[in-house]
Amino acid sequence: MRILVTGASGLLGLNLALEACPEHTVFGQAHSQRLNTSQFEIYQADLLVPGVIERLIDRTQPDWVIHCAAMANLDACEADPERAKQLNSEVPAKLASVVARGGARLLHVSTDAVFDGQHGDYSEDDTPHPLSTYAHTKLEGERAVKEANPAALIARVNLYGWSLSGRRSLGEFFFNNLSAGRQVMGFTDVYFCPLLANDLAHIFLKMLSARLTGLYHVVSSECTSKLTFGQLIARTFGFDERLVIPTSVNQAGLKATRSPHLTLRSDKIAQALGESLPGIASGLERFYVLYLQGYPNYIRQIGTQAIGHSGNQAIG
Ligand SMILES: NC(=O)c1ccc[n+]([C@@H]2O[C@H](COP(=O)([O-])OP(=O)(O)OC[C@H]3O[C@@H](n4cnc5c(N)ncnc54)[C@H](OP(=O)(O)O)[C@@H]3O)[C@@H](O)[C@H]2O)c1
Repeated sequence: MRILVTGASGLLGLNLALEACPEHTVFGQAHSQRLNTSQFEIYQADLLVPGVIERLIDRTQPDWVIHCAAMANLDACEADPERAKQLNSEVPAKLASVVARGGARLLHVSTDAVFDGQHGDYSEDDTPHPLSTYAHTKLEGERAVKEANPAALIARVNLYGWSLSGRRSLGEFFFNNLSAGRQVMGFTDVYFCPLLANDLAHIFLKMLSARLTGLYHVVSSECTSKLTFGQLIARTFGFDERLVIPTSVNQAGLKATRSPHLTLRSDKIAQALGESLPGIASGLERFYVLYLQGYPNYIRQIGTQAIGHSGNQAIG
């Protein structure tokens, strides 16, 4: 398949593009970050510029578009709600209609944060109730995609992994601090079901092969508190787990409101694919094995401009 990955410099997009390219022809779109790899074709493009989405689809002629580009930092969304709306709601709407017109298929990436997290155990039939600007704009994006392109696939996710900056995911946050012997807060009252980006990438590829449509929760089959997640990272990497200090999220002084119980059911996707999704321990084990294999450095070098691969094609 020819797969266009938007946001290919981001945490999910880069891992996804790298996991997909051995089997597929991959085109990766990045924006401000220049990428340095020959593994897939890179297109430099600002999706907010009128006409760019059309030109990107025209140039790459994809069978599938996996839309990972977004404004995914919650506090940045609170600080600039207009840009959050453009990137998280309006760009997905435009992309969905352009993709539908051209005959390709779209997998749009959304978030577990569309729920307020008051009770947890959410299925795809539960009514979302977003709390933050990020969550509001992402939910609006889902609705706009569904309206413009009813055959689109929409995945609500939560993920961690190794990123270009080395600082993008919660897994890296715990790794960076614990490996340096620094204490970190571990929230006792925030629950989630995180998947390793590399595992999520393979599940996405299976979803494309199965030609699924509609809304799916694509999260780990197990859920945990952020405290326990930090302690498990410490244990997996051999760090001192007492450095993870049990803390309430209310004591952390975060700008955007966080939903406390973001535990989502993944049985719909498990049934559709005929397999259950990875649990927390297996994801962390792979996170550790990737570390031992030097994957974090490999990923970071892709963001290093000094080693001159200049194959980035600009679309403006
Ligand atoms: N990370 C999580 O824990 C998490 C949880 C739930 C859902 N999600 C969802 O998963 C998806 C991927 O998130 P992520 O964590 O991988 O995000 P990320 O690391 O912040 O990456 C965002 C991507 O969007 C690109 N981008 C930003 N502005 C753009 C613009 N104007 N035009 C084109 N591209 C632009 C960025 O490009 P440059 O960097 O090159 O500028 C980057 O590649 C998002 O839909 C997010 O809402 C993430």
